Formats: sequence, structure tokens, C-alpha cells
Amino acid sequence: MSILASLQNNRMIPEKYKLMSREELEARVLEVKQKMGARLFIPGHHYQKNEVIQFADATGDSLKLAQISAENTEAEYIVFCGVHFMAETADILTTENQKVFLPDMRAGCSMADMADMPQTECAWEKLQAIFGDTILPLTYINSTAAIKAFVGVNGGATVTSSNAPEKVKWALNQKERILFLPDQHLGRNTAFDLGVGLDEMAVWNPITDTLEYEGDVSRIKVILWKGHCSVHENFTVQNIHDTRKQYPDMKIIVHPECSREVVALSDEAGSTSFIIQMIEKAEPGSAWAIGTEMNLVNRLIQNHSDKHIISLNPHMCPCLTMNRIDLPHLVWCLDMIEAGQEDQIIKVDPKIAENAKLALERMLLSK
Ligand code: 13P
Ligand code: SF4
Repeated sequence: MSILASLQNNRMIPEKYKLMSREELEARVLEVKQKMGARLFIPGHHYQKNEVIQFADATGDSLKLAQISAENTEAEYIVFCGVHFMAETADILTTENQKVFLPDMRAGCSMADMADMPQTECAWEKLQAIFGDTILPLTYINSTAAIKAFVGVNGGATVTSSNAPEKVKWALNQKERILFLPDQHLGRNTAFDLGVGLDEMAVWNPITDTLEYEGDVSRIKVILWKGHCSVHENFTVQNIHDTRKQYPDMKIIVHPECSREVVALSDEAGSTSFIIQMIEKAEPGSAWAIGTEMNLVNRLIQNHSDKHIISLNPHMCPCLTMNRIDLPHLVWCLDMIEAGQEDQIIKVDPKIAENAKLALERMLLSK
């Protein structure tokens, strides 16, 4: 579902939740959690606010959260603290008896909304006309269920930032070229690290319906969908130069949704879990500039006072949609579940879910 559709579907949070104190809200979450026990499961993405993540039964990056959803067959109610595509993925991977809820239906992902079905079908038709049956589609898990379904029926798989290298390698062994949706940066960074030259990568522009490439198209191995993350595009080459000048000994670590230029100038790049692990095992006294979402950077700063940690962009970069999930929305959602209301349920159309599952399983079941 697009952000627009979510908005139309959205009921506004009742005023009373905004008037409750933090203590009252926290006490209410604990009360419901205690009452519902194992029937309730709250997964939380690393970008969630502290006020929410403190109640998560499990935290993780997109891959771990998908694995957890596939493994948890017990919880009747899954209250997903993350964004819409993550809750959709959880719905696809859980059983018929399990219900997935998103505490604020407006919590979408602007990158996932950069590839819709009419655009994708048009691109596929034009690309088949140019290249014939030589393309395998891969989609970043940050995409709608419909895009995952398209990829699933066309033999492709989903990828996350932590398994993109192995999945791109796998895909390039299946077919001559890949179409990578919807994040051009993760696609470019991953393919480049695997030895694909920048001159072997083209960009598909879904606004103009054209292939952006100069030269002989038969050389193209990777077609990158022209999408991006509006949070990670705020980390720039200038930020890197400024950081290196001010703190010559500082290491720079970024998420691979940052541009090729930024990743190339950084010391490390990887998923949110990779970033957390690097900081956890770093020497006390070491210094780090991190290029990823603000809540995670702030949490790492708080949890590692023995290290000097800053945001790579001094103005900090919040993911506004992730931040829509706050304590009042969590309590509202839990209250609705208790009252038997399903306004915030995420239910993927069964046919789309079946096909999307093909793409997700090709990712989860592969070594
Ligand atoms: P991770 O899978 O690395 O947690 O990334 C998810 C995401 O949305 C990054 O912007
Ligand atoms: Fe989407 Fe970017 Fe937010 Fe991740 S940080 S959820 S990719 S908008």
C-alpha cells in the first residue's frame, strides 16, 4: 500500500493519548504485555525511537525481522514497530491465524513508494524488448508487496542490505543481467563491490520510462531502478571531507543506501546490524562518524560513552516515517487490539502474498 493509500485508510489518534503522561503510557504498555503474554509479539527496527524500542520483544535489521516473522508461529498479535513494508513482509511470512498491526498507518517508506506496479510493468516490457529474456529482477525488501510479487513470479528474490552481495551474485549466475529495484544506491554499491564496472550499469528512469546509458547496451549487466532513500541521500561527500578535516583519526561508517561516492570515501559500509556490531567491537577511545538514521546514531552515542561517536551529517537525519511510531500510537494500537478492533491491521491480498512469498523464500532459504 502506498503512503497515500495508508493516509486515506488512516484514522487519527484520539486526543486522549496525546494528553497521557509518559509514565501512564509506559504503564499501559506493560499492563497489556503482561495480560497478553506470548499472544502478543512486538518486533522493532533499529531506527525506532527509544520510547518504543524499550518494549520490543526482538530488535533487528530488515533481514533479522523477516527471519523472526517467519519463525514465530505462536503470537496471535504482532505489533510491528517499523515501517509499512516491514509489516507487510511480516504478514506474508506469518500464518493465517496471526495478525500483524502497524501502530501508525502513515509509517511508510518513501523509497518503497518510488516503484509502483504500472511503472514496473512498463519498464519490464520495454526492457524485454531491448534485452529479451536475459534479465532477472531483484528487489530490495524496502518495496511494496506487489513489487515483491512481480519479482517472485519472474524468478527473482528479495534482498536486504545485509545479504545483497550474495543475492546479486546468485542472480548474475542465473541470467546475463539483473534489474535491481527500487534503490539504485544499494544496487550500485553491491554490484561494484562484486566487480561489475560502473560502465556496465544502466539506470532505469521510471518517470520518463527510459534507460539512462551511453554506449553499447549489450555491455549492461545491472539495471538500477532510479529510486533512493531520502534520509541517506543527506550524507554527502562534503560531510566526509569536513569530518576528515576536523577529526583526521575518525573512522567513517555508512549504510549502503548512501551514494556510491559517499560509500567509496567511507571506511566501512553495511546494514544497521553491521553498524551496531562494528561499534560494539570497536576499541574504547576510538572515534566514529556514522551515516545512518538519527535514532540509531543517538542510541549508539548513548550506549557507547567510552567511544567518540558523531553523526556524519551534523544536522542529523531522521526517517520521518519511522518516527511516526511513538508511544501514544503504540498504546492506541494495543488498546484497539484489546477491544477487538482491527483498524491498524496490515493484510496483504492473498494472491499478492503468495507470489511475494516466492521472492522472500528465495532469499530466506538460500545459503
Ligand atoms: P537495514 O536492513 O540495514 O536495517 O535497513 C533498513 C532500512 O530501511 C535502512 O534505511
Ligand atoms: Fe525507507 Fe529510508 Fe526510512 Fe529506511 S531510512 S525506512 S529506506 S525512508
